[in-house]
Amino acid sequence: MRIKVQPCKNNIGAKISCNLKTAGEVEINQIKDALNGFGVVFFRNQNLDPKSYIKFAKNFGPLADYPMLKGLSKEFPEITVVERKSSDVGPSFGEQFHTDSSYTENPPRYTMLLAKLVPKRGLGNTEFASQYLAYEKLPDEYKKKIENVKGVFSSSGPISVTRVERELEKGTGKSKDFKSIHSVIRKINNRKSIYCSPGHVVDFLNISKEEGEELKEFLFKHQIKKEFVYSFEWEKDSIAIWDNWSILHQATSFSGNRVMHRITVQ
Ligand SMILES: [Fe+2]
Repeated sequence: MRIKVQPCKNNIGAKISCNLKTAGEVEINQIKDALNGFGVVFFRNQNLDPKSYIKFAKNFGPLADYPMLKGLSKEFPEITVVERKSSDVGPSFGEQFHTDSSYTENPPRYTMLLAKLVPKRGLGNTEFASQYLAYEKLPDEYKKKIENVKGVFSSSGPISVTRVERELEKGTGKSKDFKSIHSVIRKINNRKSIYCSPGHVVDFLNISKEEGEELKEFLFKHQIKKEFVYSFEWEKDSIAIWDNWSILHQATSFSGNRVMHRITVQ
């Protein structure tokens, strides 16, 4: 069986029709190809229980551990509950463009979210910014400038404030302990993308202090230009899977309740 792949606006992500419960090796390989090509893929109407969700996720690699929050339950520690509550006063969890756990030595390659409880359609979208496109559209002088630059990624970067309410409930107590260094360019099948997480990058290496400050100012704005962004509208049982090497993502602000089950893959 072939899956149906429908590219989104500007080829930023693609919608895929496929039943993930019964997907076999052939379909999984097609999904992987689409994921590498488009950076992020979306599915509707996937009513997966935790067991079948984990089974599906394992097709993409070994599951990663999220250091900041405890998992769904003792039985399913691999699932992180990403929650927004109407009683929250701070920003939503992940409400700034970032790539997941980029402050760890080996950040997870893929992240998936399964929507369990969602507000009205169009509220609480997740935005995805293609870093393939962001790289392609970089002026040549910047392509040259960042070729050998490394970023210092910190778990206490600006996005850490969006974790506060969830950490009070389910925190592991490990927060603020992580710092890692990664190249700001990644290569995926000979295609370059920018790997720089505005929510986590606090400094650059192999560049002067002044140039680094100027680069931060320029790059953070460039990476998330509207033309590189696709905004996904959630429905219950929708799934999004993205490649953290080529996609930035962020939660958008809304008041209400939302529950997502997240799995990260190494
Ligand atoms: Fe995230």
